Amino acid sequence: MSSVLIKEDELKALVLTKLTRAGLDDNTAREVTDVLVHADMTGVHSHGVMRVEHYCTRLQAGGLNPAAVMAFQSISPSVAVLDSDDGMGHSALLAATDRAVQLAKETGVGFVGIKNTSHCGALSYFAERATRQGAIAIVMTQTDTCVAPYGGAERFLGTNPLAFGFPVKDEAPMIVDMATSAVAFGKILHAKETGQPVGEGLALDKEGNVTTDPHKIENLLPFGKHKGSGIALAIDALTGILMGANFGNHIVRMYGDYDKMRKLASLVIAIDPDKLGNAFFAATMKTMRDELRAVRPVPGVEKVLAPNDPQMAYKAKCQREGIPVAEGIYQYLTSEN
Ligand SMILES: NC(=O)c1ccc[n+]([C@@H]2O[C@H](COP(=O)([O-])OP(=O)(O)OC[C@H]3O[C@@H](n4cnc5c(N)ncnc54)[C@H](O)[C@@H]3O)[C@@H](O)[C@H]2O)c1
Repeated sequence: MSSVLIKEDELKALVLTKLTRAGLDDNTAREVTDVLVHADMTGVHSHGVMRVEHYCTRLQAGGLNPAAVMAFQSISPSVAVLDSDDGMGHSALLAATDRAVQLAKETGVGFVGIKNTSHCGALSYFAERATRQGAIAIVMTQTDTCVAPYGGAERFLGTNPLAFGFPVKDEAPMIVDMATSAVAFGKILHAKETGQPVGEGLALDKEGNVTTDPHKIENLLPFGKHKGSGIALAIDALTGILMGANFGNHIVRMYGDYDKMRKLASLVIAIDPDKLGNAFFAATMKTMRDELRAVRPVPGVEKVLAPNDPQMAYKAKCQREGIPVAEGIYQYLTSEN
């Protein structure tokens, strides 16, 4: 699949035009654009500008509210619930992150549940935003199902991603951000396009047998067998069930059901280390990361990396050379419709 290299500003302008044409106001469109281009610039192309067409289709079909009015309900000095009025998930998570950080600054911890939301892109964006304000962040969301639970032959779990963000003194934060499936769904789509087999032990066919043939894949497996299965379940419980929303197979599908509001739930937790009496958190994180990177690697591995290291290297390359965008996606972004 060939791709073109595009400068950050140019890519943002293209995305912004598409989203405003689909009905979003300028501010919301800018927020969504920022999250999407961040994903591409950190190598998470599966959650970058390739999703613009999907959002536009959903906005035009009525499965997203372009004029959402978000409302926070204050539950306690540390806890709030955000009703995002079926608007863009990116804007909801962004507002929830800022509120969680504000509550953390006041009380030590901020806990913001989000309901009536939608797909929000790469969680690292929100975790990083919290760290820039000096807070630790834990971010999670439910998704519609495509993952079999441990021992199951059918889908029951979403790819339910989870991210942690830790401020690091004078340096880029440490961000741990992952789907709880053994492989990201976007990587299966890519394998289907290129005809490449996927790795061993990542996915099941219709009968529930493990397969590496991308054309036979019916469902994904959780990461880490029973452990990932349990974490994915916990995320669905802490988001969907806690917010009184849907869970598992009751969740409105992302691809299909374009005229239905998705009613997803997400969660942002922020912690202010200063407020907890630890003025050295970010400095100690730096020591921890330095020591991690200094671990002797196994044969064949050049260097032990910290989470977010590959993403930061990729971002620097994009800033130098431009962001790779697949030809087909570039054509869509530059088209008049
Ligand atoms: N919003 C949604 O509905 C949704 C659903 C699923 C996934 N996602 C997003 O998809 C993205 C992709 O997730 P993924 O599971 O494919 O991530 P991944 O497997 O590429 O990376 C997972 C984590 O491992 C770290 N990492 C990668 N290589 C490393 C190495 N060599 N050494 C040390 N650390 C390393 C990364 O920094 C990252 O923190 C995430 O941004 C996630 O938020 C979003």
